[in-house]
Formats: sequence, C-alpha cells, structure tokens
Amino acid sequence: MDLIFADPPYNLQLRNDLYRPNLTKVDAVKDRWDKFKGFAEYDAFTREWLSASHRVLKETGTIWAIGTYHNIFRIGKIMQDVGFWILNSVIWEKANPMPNFKGVRFTNSHEILIWAARSKEATYTFNHHSMKLLNDDRDGGLQMRADWHLPLATGKERIKANGTKAHSTQKPEALLYRIIMAASNPGDVVLDPFFGSGTTGAVAKKLGRNWIGIERDKKYIKVAQKRIDAVQPAGEEAIHVEKRKQARVPFGALLENGLLRPGQSLYFAKNGTRAKVLANGHLRCGELTGSIHGVARALVDNAPANGWDLWFYRDEDGKKIVIDELRERLRANAGTLKR
Ligand SMILES: C[S@@+](CC[C@H](N)C(=O)[O-])C[C@H]1O[C@@H](n2cnc3c(N)ncnc32)[C@H](O)[C@@H]1O
Repeated sequence: MDLIFADPPYNLQLRNDLYRPNLTKVDAVKDRWDKFKGFAEYDAFTREWLSASHRVLKETGTIWAIGTYHNIFRIGKIMQDVGFWILNSVIWEKANPMPNFKGVRFTNSHEILIWAARSKEATYTFNHHSMKLLNDDRDGGLQMRADWHLPLATGKERIKANGTKAHSTQKPEALLYRIIMAASNPGDVVLDPFFGSGTTGAVAKKLGRNWIGIERDKKYIKVAQKRIDAVQPAGEEAIHVEKRKQARVPFGALLENGLLRPGQSLYFAKNGTRAKVLANGHLRCGELTGSIHGVARALVDNAPANGWDLWFYRDEDGKKIVIDELRERLRANAGTLKR
C-alpha cells in the first residue's frame, strides 16, 4: 500500500439517547459497529488493525488516522508503539458543527488527524507543491497549515437511503481530496480499512489512484459500490501535476563516492578550457576558484550557467562525458552510496 486512510470506530460509549432541549432526539453515532466493552477491548482492536497496517504499508507510504477526543489519543500512542513515526497532527475544524445540546461542555467542533510515516528513517511521499497551490492561487502558492477548515458532508454530497443518512459518519470528500493529493501519486494504491460509505474510494477513483476498501457491513458495501461506480475519473493529463522531485546532489558527493578524484581535470564545454578538481568540491581554473557553477559563469562573462551541463571529464577511453551523467548515476544508486 502507498497510502492508508483509517476512520475507525470512535468508541463513543453513548449509552443513552441524546435529546435536544425541545426533546427531539439527536442523530448521534450509536451504531453497532461502535460498541466496545471498554478501553482495553478498544485498545486491543486498535493495536491489531494498526499492526496490520504497518505490515502492509510500503516504506515510502504514510498512514492517516482520524478520530475525536474519545479515541485519537489512544490511537496516537498505539501508532507509536507499533513503529509509526508521527509527522503531523492535523485539525479538521468543522465549518458547521453539531451544537452541544446539554450546554455542559464546549461545542465539539473538530476532529484530529494523525499523519505518520512507516518509520523515523522512511522517505515518504508528500506533494508539497500541489499542497501549496491548493492552498493559495498566487504563483507558487503558499505552504499549507495543519488546521483545515472544511464543512461536514451535507446537502447533495450526503448519501441517503430511504430519505435518511446512508451512513452516520460519512466524511467530506474535500478532506480525502487533500489527503490523497498530499500523500499519494497517480496509480498508487490507497487502502481504507474502515470504508463505510466509500468516501476514500470515490476520491481515489476521481484522482486516478487505485483503492482497496475493507468494510464489515454489507449494507455499507452496497452504498459504497454504487457511489464509486458513478464517479468519473479525471483524465491522465489532469492528475499528473506534481513536479518530480530529484534528490539534490552536491558536486562534492561525486568526490566522496569516488566518481571523480581530487586533482582530476574537467573540460569546459565551450572551448575545452581545463579546470582542476579540488578536494573540497571547488574547481581551480587559472586564476579562478569556485563552484562548478561559479567558474562556468565566469567563463561565459557572467551569463547564467549550470555547471552540471557545462563541465566534462574524460573516461578511461579518453572520451569526454558531461558530469551530469555522474550525478544521474549517483541518484540512481541513492541509498547505497555515501550521503
Ligand atoms: C467511522 S466509519 C467510516 C466512515 C467512512 N470514512 C465514510 O466516509 O463513510 C467506520 C466504519 O468501519 C466499519 N467497521 C467497524 N469495525 C470494522 C471491522 N472490524 N472491519 C471492517 N470494518 C469495520 C463500520 O461498519 C463503519 O462503516
């Protein structure tokens, strides 16, 4: 799996019906799937699904779990216990929350998402450019904060069966849109182990991701299937939007990894001017000393110059080869080379 989104039972522990001051009944989550004997049973259940998620998640993947004060702190602790590395907690601030009818607490107006990588060392997918652009339409966008102000799934978005909500906790598609855009790429596999009405599947299909949903209630599976069947996927051109991020490789890494050696000669593209590679990754060219870019710029009268494309080394056969090829070789072997 490349991405897991989990919206597990909350363990709300609502024993009695809840009434508004005018004595109408509140439509609260009292479903059978939300019943646990107590914290111990809930924790054991949480540990099981989180361990299984950890097992099936790719090293580059991440998991998002969403919950309320009833369960999210227990989930967070167990996530760390099974090896996940927490990256952020995100607040979903509900634009239109349900009021607290008894007036004995604050209105419960947010849910908390925990975003975690498989381990502390993992390099994970984060489409930082897309997030900046989704957040602000100025050129280049603006870094997104971890408090998200989004409405509940209401109106046309809310799936109904016989005039009532088909699922009591259907999540807004806007929430899943952000998560899937942030943490997966087209063609990836997104798993939702508590699929409910299939919000994750619907958004994954729209954005050209594959999906797997696990749901124990047949009635919800039917709802989800019908919903997802009606989704039109966006075309390929519309979904391949994130710039490919290339690992930054400093010139010095070629020396450290033995692809070039101090004292070796490099040749400038334009006229074959020779420069000597210094041990610290700088070049010396006559009176000039500086980076591959700085010396190249000086040789072209300070016009913009990318040293990776302008300096050549000679291979064993004496053939001149551009140094960018060495950088590509290093990138291809990232992980096995020093740095
Ligand atoms: C909070 S709801 C998820 C709602 C979903 N995110 C949506 O947008 O519709 C949790 C779902 O998990 C399902 N569920 C609970 N325990 C489960 C289990 N052990 N295995 C699979 N599904 C389970 C419930 O039936 C319920 O539909």
